[in-house]
Amino acid sequence: MSRRENRPTMAIVGAGVIGLSWARLAREHGWAVAITDPRPDLAEIVAGEFGEDPEVRVTGDLADAVRDADLVQENGPERLPIKQQLFAEIGAAAPAGAVLATSSSSITASEIASDLEADVAARLLVGHPFNPPELMPLVEVLPGARTASATTDRAVALYRDLHREPVVIAKELPGFVANRLQGAVSREARYLVQQGVVSPGDLDTILRNSLGLRWATIGLFEGNVLGGGPGGIRHLIEGVGAQTGSIEFGTPATDPVSMEALIESVEDTYGSGDEVYEVLRARRDRRTRAVLAALADDGHATTSSDPASR
Ligand SMILES: NC(=O)c1ccc[n+]([C@@H]2O[C@H](COP(=O)([O-])OP(=O)(O)OC[C@H]3O[C@@H](n4cnc5c(N)ncnc54)[C@H](O)[C@@H]3O)[C@@H](O)[C@H]2O)c1
Repeated sequence: MSRRENRPTMAIVGAGVIGLSWARLAREHGWAVAITDPRPDLAEIVAGEFGEDPEVRVTGDLADAVRDADLVQENGPERLPIKQQLFAEIGAAAPAGAVLATSSSSITASEIASDLEADVAARLLVGHPFNPPELMPLVEVLPGARTASATTDRAVALYRDLHREPVVIAKELPGFVANRLQGAVSREARYLVQQGVVSPGDLDTILRNSLGLRWATIGLFEGNVLGGGPGGIRHLIEGVGAQTGSIEFGTPATDPVSMEALIESVEDTYGSGDEVYEVLRARRDRRTRAVLAALADDGHATTSSDPASR
């Protein structure tokens, strides 16, 4: 674990799946962390994760947790009234210069800040990670209508310090960007399984061996450019795209009966429960680390905006 002079402090509010992963990331980069959560097993869980680490502070008191934070990262339940209450308390106790971020996957900063004091609203934004934040470089940064631009700049700098790849999203659209993309692919995947076109296992094999591998190395539009050969995206859209562009995609929503059958089919393929979760999680983390290490060997810089250098 690295140690640094003047290390920043992250206050983790809510120590579930996402909060604990942020904590591991922060420690990996030499930050101090203060963790709070009303769960009765908090001390035990944190001790199990970090042992006797003097840079990890555990407290049941929210105000105490955020008192010396540079970044407050909130990871409590995905419920608007809870987040509104939490940020009212966080805003009153955190230092004036702290960035107040929520990991929320769907609730916007504007909604959370609607009844908050102006100086709290100015410091609040969404810093949405992709699970697990300790491995996935992306953080979607969504300022609300009342967020100060200096807060957004500071959040971007802090996430970069944690070697994340923050992307500032210009509009507060439900699902933000990454989950909207995931939702569009998921909807079509479920449709194909429900129509009996492909099994859940085969669909995952198809994804891992085509789009997954491609998208681990290049983006969607970059793939379009390459797909068209030297003629680029223009050639792709006018050629192959003229055919694939006319495909009609599946039904937008799935009814509860067929959704239950789909869930059972996926559980039959992968299993479920604690043991399965641990096995699948370990495999995911091992493979994600392998891909990240291979990309790092190739000189892939996560914070570069120059396509030629990636
Ligand atoms: N799980 C994901 O894939 C994922 C990905 C990105 C973002 N998120 C977001 O992260 C947040 C947390 O999700 P999660 O999956 O870690 O949930 P989780 O259920 O694993 O953890 C939530 C934690 O919040 C705690 N909590 C309850 N009331 C609280 C309070 N008043 N103050 C502080 N903590 C409280 C709970 O005890 C629990 O430990 C949500 O906003 C979610 O949208 C989740």
